[in-house]
Amino acid sequence: MNDNATAHMAGEYDNKIEQTIPCYKFFHEQALDLVRVYNNKPKNWLDTGCGTGTMAGKILSSFPDIRLVLADPSKDMIDITRNKLGGYQKQISIITTASQDLVEAEHSFNVITAIMCHHYLEPIMRAAATENCYRMLNKGGIYITFENICPTGEIGIKLGLQRWKKFQMESGKSEEEAASHIARFGKEYFPVTIEEHLQLLRKIGFTCAEVLWASYMQAGFYAIK
Ligand SMILES: C[S@@+](CC[C@H](N)C(=O)[O-])C[C@H]1O[C@@H](n2cnc3c(N)ncnc32)[C@H](O)[C@@H]1O
Repeated sequence: MNDNATAHMAGEYDNKIEQTIPCYKFFHEQALDLVRVYNNKPKNWLDTGCGTGTMAGKILSSFPDIRLVLADPSKDMIDITRNKLGGYQKQISIITTASQDLVEAEHSFNVITAIMCHHYLEPIMRAAATENCYRMLNKGGIYITFENICPTGEIGIKLGLQRWKKFQMESGKSEEEAASHIARFGKEYFPVTIEEHLQLLRKIGFTCAEVLWASYMQAGFYAIK
C-alpha cells in the first residue's frame, strides 16, 4: 500500500517523478539558488516532506556545514532517505512526521523547504502546516515551498490539465496512466491559486511573500519571517 499520498509507491518514486512533474529537478535548484543569494551560510535547515531525500542530498553537498532536519509522514519514503544519506548521519536528524505535527522548537531554523508536500492538505490543515513552518523559523529565516496550484478559472484548469497530461505522455506514460494522474486534481490533492498562497503567507505573518517561479500547474513561493 502507498503511504505517501503521491501517485507513486516510495520504491518507484525516483524513477517516475520526472515523468510526472514538469521541471521537477528545477524546483530543488531554484530553492538552493535562492538560499545561496539570501543567506549563503545557513546553519540549520528543515526539509519537510523530504520524500526520498533527493533535495536533502543537494542541500548537504551545497552547504557542507549545514545541520539538516528531514521530516516526512511516510515511513517508506523515510526508509529510502535514511539509506540514501547513510554517510551523513552526524549532521542529519530524520523524523517521521507531517509538517503540521512537527514539534521542533520555535526559532530553530534559518531555512525551511517544503517541496510539493502541502497540496495534499485541505485548507485548515494547509494553514496549520504553514503556520508551523513559520513558528519554527528564525526571525529573518526563509520559507520556500513548491506546490501544485489551481488556475483561477474553468478554462485555465482545463487547459492546464490537458497540457500536464500531454507532458506526461511525451515523457513516456501511457494515455491511461497520464489520465489517471490528471484525475487526482481536487480529489487526491487540493491545489489553491497563486493569490491564495500569497494571502495565506501574509496572513500568517511573513514580512515578505513572493512567487519564485510558476509554469504548468506548479508554482514556487518564498516568504521571509
Ligand atoms: C511529491 S513528494 C515530494 C517529495 C520531495 N519533497 C521531493 O522534492 O521529491 C510528496 C511528499 O510529501 C509527503 N507528505 C504528504 N503529506 C505531508 C504533510 N502533511 N507534511 C509533510 N509531508 C507530507 C509525502 O509523504 C511525500 O513524501
